[in-house]
Amino acid sequence: MELLTTRIDLDAIAHNTRLLKDLVGDVRLMAVVKADGYGHGAGRVAQVMAENGADCFGVATLQEAVDLRNEGIAKPILAWIWSPEQDLTEALSLNIQLGIPSVAHAQALVDAAVPARVSVKVDTGLHRSGVDEADWARVFTLLHEAEHLTVTGVFSHLACADEPDNPTNDAQAAALGRAIDLARSLGLDIPVNHLCNSPGTLTRPDLHHEQVRVGLALYGLSPLPDVDPGLRPAMSWIGRITVVKPIEPGESTSYNHTWTAEEPGWLAVVPAGYADGVPRSWQGDLQVGIGGKLYPQVGRVCMDQIVVSLGANEFGVQPGDEAVIFGEGGLSATELAAATGTINYEIICRPTGRTVREYEGGIDL
Ligand SMILES: Cc1ncc(COP(=O)(O)O)c(C=O)c1O
Repeated sequence: MELLTTRIDLDAIAHNTRLLKDLVGDVRLMAVVKADGYGHGAGRVAQVMAENGADCFGVATLQEAVDLRNEGIAKPILAWIWSPEQDLTEALSLNIQLGIPSVAHAQALVDAAVPARVSVKVDTGLHRSGVDEADWARVFTLLHEAEHLTVTGVFSHLACADEPDNPTNDAQAAALGRAIDLARSLGLDIPVNHLCNSPGTLTRPDLHHEQVRVGLALYGLSPLPDVDPGLRPAMSWIGRITVVKPIEPGESTSYNHTWTAEEPGWLAVVPAGYADGVPRSWQGDLQVGIGGKLYPQVGRVCMDQIVVSLGANEFGVQPGDEAVIFGEGGLSATELAAATGTINYEIICRPTGRTVREYEGGIDL
């Protein structure tokens, strides 16, 4: 029996993939599985996504792309975070497509003289990575002249897609339109262009182009409080209670005695601490679900453990019972994000340390 697990519902992943594929219709669905599939295990979830409508995959680094290919994903994979100094041999030999975010990256691929499929990541206003507008013509021309390179499209990333009314969205859309026009006027074919992440995909069907790049929504979470087309969260984070013990009024728990019992009651100890991804700063904001009821975490978050107040323990919580840090039977990742001042994206990337991943549903592998 594992003490600390993330439970991943592969049927939820399948459901979300089908739902999003239906929602975008003829538009290609790129499933974003960077950061180990947002903590869900990229290889396993990608298999399920591939069987339920994902047309291709997006990752950040070359190593993520190589790992995904080696785990049996045969569909196209695009990686967009790499350095021009990196050795590209393995990735290119595995037919990994590369996003080009600067002139130096374009030059590195021209110099590599190895056949490759590439997409140009243009900066349309995020001002992070992406080719600046002043360099678009230079990069498009460089790539067009390199016979070993095939440019599949241009793409860009929205800065404010989770604020649907922010005018930046339209400004970025217009800039991407200029990039597409320029690339075509310089002779590039670029059949597959893309801009939308999850919030863009859910709120701006007019910006879908030929492909959308969806991450968060595939894992069953919405990036927007009032938009949910029927997604099913796939991850729960669960600890097995190791100790249940009484506490008397005036007695305190955990380091520095920051919480003191006012009444006779019971405490439960959950084996998850800051070494496992429960930040020390969550003290006082975290509630844990036990038997479908929420109980407050109390006192300092330790390296390996947290303490939960059971009150009078009227439901008879015992060692071995499941304590849900987030997910089914506890706070949702979105509720926990709101309680702790962050976003649900960060919450699902939290579980680490001694956490063991377990899968439910889906295909047998
Ligand atoms: C370039 C790029 N495209 C798409 C995504 C997917 O975003 P989301 O999880 O909002 O769908 C990300 C994730 O941050 C990204 O960096």
